[in-house]
Amino acid sequence: MTQPLIGAPLDRVEAREKVVGAAKYTADVALDGMQHAVVVPSAIANGRVASIDETQARAQPGVIEIMTHRNAPRVVARKATPMQSNLFLLQNDVIEFDRQPVAVVIARTFEQATHAAELVEVRYESEAPQMDLDAAEAYRPEQLFGEPATHERGKPVTAFNAAGVRIDEIYRTPTEHHNPIEMHATIAAWDGERLTLFDASQWAFGVRDRMAHVFGIPADRITAISKYVGGAFGGKGQPWSHVALAAMAAKLVDRPVKLVLTRPQMFGWVGHRPQTEQHVEIAAERDGTLASIVHEVRSETSISDEYVEPCGIFSRDLYAVPNYRMSHELRRLHISKPTFQRAPGESTGSFAIESAMDELSYALGVDPLELRLKNYSERNPDSGKPYTSKHLRDCYEQAAKRFEWDRRDPKVRSMRSGRMLVGMGMATASRATHRSEASVRITIRPDGTIEVANGTIEQGTGSPTVFAQLAAEILGVPFDRVRFVWGDTTLPNAPLAAGSQTAASVGSAVVVAASLARKRLDEANGRIPSDGIVVVHHEKPSEEDENRYAQQAFGALFAQVEVDPDLGMVGVTRFVGAFDAGRILNRKTAYSQLLGGCVWGISMALFEKSRYDDRTARIMNAELSHYLIPTSADVPDIDVFAIEADDPHVNPAHVRGIGEVSMCGSAAAVANAVYHATGVRVRELPITVEKLLT
Ligand code: MOS
Repeated sequence: MTQPLIGAPLDRVEAREKVVGAAKYTADVALDGMQHAVVVPSAIANGRVASIDETQARAQPGVIEIMTHRNAPRVVARKATPMQSNLFLLQNDVIEFDRQPVAVVIARTFEQATHAAELVEVRYESEAPQMDLDAAEAYRPEQLFGEPATHERGKPVTAFNAAGVRIDEIYRTPTEHHNPIEMHATIAAWDGERLTLFDASQWAFGVRDRMAHVFGIPADRITAISKYVGGAFGGKGQPWSHVALAAMAAKLVDRPVKLVLTRPQMFGWVGHRPQTEQHVEIAAERDGTLASIVHEVRSETSISDEYVEPCGIFSRDLYAVPNYRMSHELRRLHISKPTFQRAPGESTGSFAIESAMDELSYALGVDPLELRLKNYSERNPDSGKPYTSKHLRDCYEQAAKRFEWDRRDPKVRSMRSGRMLVGMGMATASRATHRSEASVRITIRPDGTIEVANGTIEQGTGSPTVFAQLAAEILGVPFDRVRFVWGDTTLPNAPLAAGSQTAASVGSAVVVAASLARKRLDEANGRIPSDGIVVVHHEKPSEEDENRYAQQAFGALFAQVEVDPDLGMVGVTRFVGAFDAGRILNRKTAYSQLLGGCVWGISMALFEKSRYDDRTARIMNAELSHYLIPTSADVPDIDVFAIEADDPHVNPAHVRGIGEVSMCGSAAAVANAVYHATGVRVRELPITVEKLLT
C-alpha cells in the first residue's frame, strides 16, 4: 500500500454484484411458501369506507385472503414518537388522503393478487377535501427537528424598514414525490412470536423498533434486514403502513408474505416533499451590506400528522446579517404525511433565499457573487460559534474560475448563442451537518483478514467501500484484506441513513474501532492469537464538541442556461459546483453524490411537481410518464469537485456529509440563470414554458 486509501476513487466493493444482478434487493428475496400481497388504495381523499364487496375478488384463482378493516388483526396504529408517522393499518373506516390503504389482497402469485385487488369493490361516503392552503386549518409548530421553529436575532422588522434597498417577495415550491428506482417492498415472516422483516429501508433498526411497538412485542424478537436499497432519498427513512400491513397479512394467513408497491402507489402513503410558500423580506444598505432577513415559511401537512419543512435553517445559518427572523406555519390538507426529501428544508429554503439574494443583487447593481462575498460569515451568524472549518470562499473562487463567471455580461437578456438567450446564474450551497451514535465490531482473523461490521444499509452512496477504506488505512493493511459487512439488525447499531450523517456517524465509529484494533495488533507484535482479535466500539458525539463549534457543509453553484426566446424552452448547458465538506473519503462515490444533488436541483428547477385535482385531492400524475424528472438529455456535463481541506474538529472521520449539500442552492442557480437570460423572474417552481412566455 503506497498511496493513501482515504480519498482514493476506488470502485464500489459491491459494484460487480450489482452489475451482474447478484445483489438481492428486498423484492428479489423469495422465501419458502411465500404469498403475495397487493394493497387496494382508496379512490377518495376524505370520508369513510361505506361498504366493501369482496365476492368477486375472493372467487379468483389463487386468492387466499382479503384483509380489510373488518378482519385485520388489531394493532397499535398510532405513532410511537413524534418523528414517526401515523400508520394506516385498517383499524377503522376513516379515509384522510388519496391512495390510503383500504384493503390488502393476499394470493399465491403477484399477478393473481393484482387482478383480484382490482375486483375488490369499495363504496365510499365522500366529503369535500381541503386542498386550499389559504383556507386550511393553520397552526404554528413549536419545533423543527428539535430546534425552535420561530427564531429571531436583532431587530429584523425595524432594520428592514430602515434599509436602503429592499426585496419583499413570495416564493413557492410544489409538492414532489420520491421516485427512487426501487419501489418500497417488504417481506414478512413469522415464526411463532418471532418476526423477520426484509424491508427496503434507510434504517433496519428503526423498522425493528417501530414494528415492535405496533405488534407489542420486544424488539429482540424482530430481525430487520435492509441490505441493498435502490435509492431512498428520505422516503424510506421511516416504516410506512405497508411494512406493518405485510406483517399483519403474514399473521392472518400464517405464511410469509411479500408486499411490493407499484409506481402509482409510490404517490400514496409513503411520504413526499410538502409544498411551501415562503415570504422573504431581505434588505441591504446601498453598499450591499445585508441589514435584515425575514423568512416566513408556510407548508402543508396532513390531517393527523405533523411534518415541518425546515426552510428557515438555511437562512438562519448562512450570511452575516445581524437582524433576522424565521417562522414556520403549517396548514392541514387532505394529503398523506409529508416527510424528508433529500435536503429537506434547505433545498426548498435555498430556492427562496438564493433567488431573493439574486433579486437584491440586481436592485443594488452589485454582482451576485460579490454580494455573497460581502456578507460572508466567518462564524455561524446565529450562534456566533466558530465553524469546525469553513472554506466557502475557496468554493466561490474556484468554481467561479472554472465556470468563467467573469465572462458574464451583468445586463439581463444581453448574452446570446445564435438565436438562443444565454443566462448565467449562481447560488450558495449550505447544509447542516449531523452525526449520531453508532457501534462497530472489528474482527481480525488469524489468517490476517479483517471484518468490519455495522448494521447500516447501502442505498447507492458507497458506504461499504468508504468504511473498508477507512479501516484498511488505519490498520495499515491492503484494502482487499478488509471486508465490511452490513444490512441487518443482528449487527452493531447504526443510525438512520439520512441527513447526510452515515459517513460521519458510522465512519467515526470505524475510525475509533480501527485505532483500538491497531493498538491490539501492535501489542501482539503482529501475531494474531488463534481466536483472533475482536474490538467492539460504541462511538457517541461529545456534547462538549457539539457545543463548541458550528458545523455545516458549504458549496458554490454556477449554472448556464439557454432559453428559446420564441418557445420558452430552457436547457441547462453548463453547471459547476465546488464543495467544502471536510475530508473526502472516496473521490468517485462522493462526487457521484454531489453530481446527483445538482441533477436533482435541475429537476426541481425545471421539472418536478405532483399535480393534484383540487376538487378531489387526487394526484393526477402518479406515473413517471406524467411526473417529470430529467433524462440524460436534460443534464449537461456537470463539473463538481471538493475543496479538500481537512476538518479535524468535526468528528473522528473528519467528514461533514456530502449527500445533500449540492441540492441546497442548485435550483436557485438555474432560476437565477433563467432570469439573467430572459429578464423573467420565476418565483414558483417548476419553471415551465408558460411562465416564461407571459
Ligand atoms: Mo435524507 S431526506 O436525509 O434521506
